[in-house]
Amino acid sequence: MSVATQVKDPPASIQKARQLLEQLNQDAASHNIWVRTQMNAPAQLPWFTNTGGDTGIAPMASGRVAANQMKTAAYRWKWKEYSPFLNRIAGIASAAEVSPIEFTDRQSILLTNPGLGGRLQVTNTIRCAISIYNPGDVAPAHIHSPNASRTILSDKGGYTNVEGERCEASRGDIILTPNGTWHDHANDASSPVVWIDMLDWPLMEFLDCAWVDQEYTGASDGTNEKSQPTIYADGHSARLYGNGGLKPTFINHQRGWGNDPTPMFHYKGADLLASLDKLRKEKGDAYEGIQMQLVNPVTGKPVYSTLDYNVQLLRPGEEPRFKRETSATFIVVMGGSGYSEIGGKRYDWEENDILVVPNFQWRRHVNTGKSDAILYTVSDAALLRNIGQYRAQGKTADGKIEQIVS
Ligand SMILES: [Fe+2]
Repeated sequence: MSVATQVKDPPASIQKARQLLEQLNQDAASHNIWVRTQMNAPAQLPWFTNTGGDTGIAPMASGRVAANQMKTAAYRWKWKEYSPFLNRIAGIASAAEVSPIEFTDRQSILLTNPGLGGRLQVTNTIRCAISIYNPGDVAPAHIHSPNASRTILSDKGGYTNVEGERCEASRGDIILTPNGTWHDHANDASSPVVWIDMLDWPLMEFLDCAWVDQEYTGASDGTNEKSQPTIYADGHSARLYGNGGLKPTFINHQRGWGNDPTPMFHYKGADLLASLDKLRKEKGDAYEGIQMQLVNPVTGKPVYSTLDYNVQLLRPGEEPRFKRETSATFIVVMGGSGYSEIGGKRYDWEENDILVVPNFQWRRHVNTGKSDAILYTVSDAALLRNIGQYRAQGKTADGKIEQIVS
């Protein structure tokens, strides 16, 4: 039932007044003006009354006030379905006289959310591209306002240079390029490499704050225009900041132009796995299992002021409870198999599958396999906390609603 159909017909006097207002609108339209004839109609029901029911999905509102509202939809992209497109792109690059990367900047597929009208975004705040680099491909050095990251799917090969730090890519790595950092990518290995790019691009676009500069003029001599020179060898980030609770005092932590950017650019997949594994005997969280957040080692805050990055271990058979948040979450299945229930629907998943959990919808992730399930998540919870809008609820073992963050 839509919000509009819940409203009873108004008395005749109101209908008459509304007709008169609508007549005004015939003249107003040519001046880019709309005379209000309806109440506000948000496409979200009040959080505190839990009127989202079992799914958390509120109905879309209707009418002029709500005409252009859109809601992120729950969705799953299976590796079996999206990876053939990457292979085909790579094939074209080999067969054609000109590699597509020369005129497209990237050889990638971009994921679109069925709820967001064809925009190149998976949630209201996050864009996701999946890129393939053939041996020899180079994505030239550039800098931009969106925060971005790479989650590496291929086993080994390729690198990203961030502000002179060469980050050699291996499966499970997360390489961060905070806003205002120069970065370039390339594959100098002998086989193609694949990674997932995530950015807060739609948010920057909405704020009219998205910009890119591709004119890298080189380091000291001003001649190197395509790739940055390597100043710091692979592992620099982890050597400086990968010693939990210890911060080096002899360096400036500012890297790039950002405001308090995280100086830790490169999280190695092996280190992330080892960190989770060390905690496997802990009880963990009833809603998240064993989960760790990537934080700026200097400030202790999320790595980006807009996006939270978490890595999560669900042990074999682990069945966390239902939770919902005001934020939207993007999930990459880095290992294992299981299913997620999102908004009342079940989505089975296995390695390299990708899911989106929309804002407000009830969800849980269950490991049905005999091995660990490893989920990497990116959400806009960081942004929502910063603007005072982050809330979370859970369902307790007896089905009651619990305020986790109210
Ligand atoms: Fe970039």
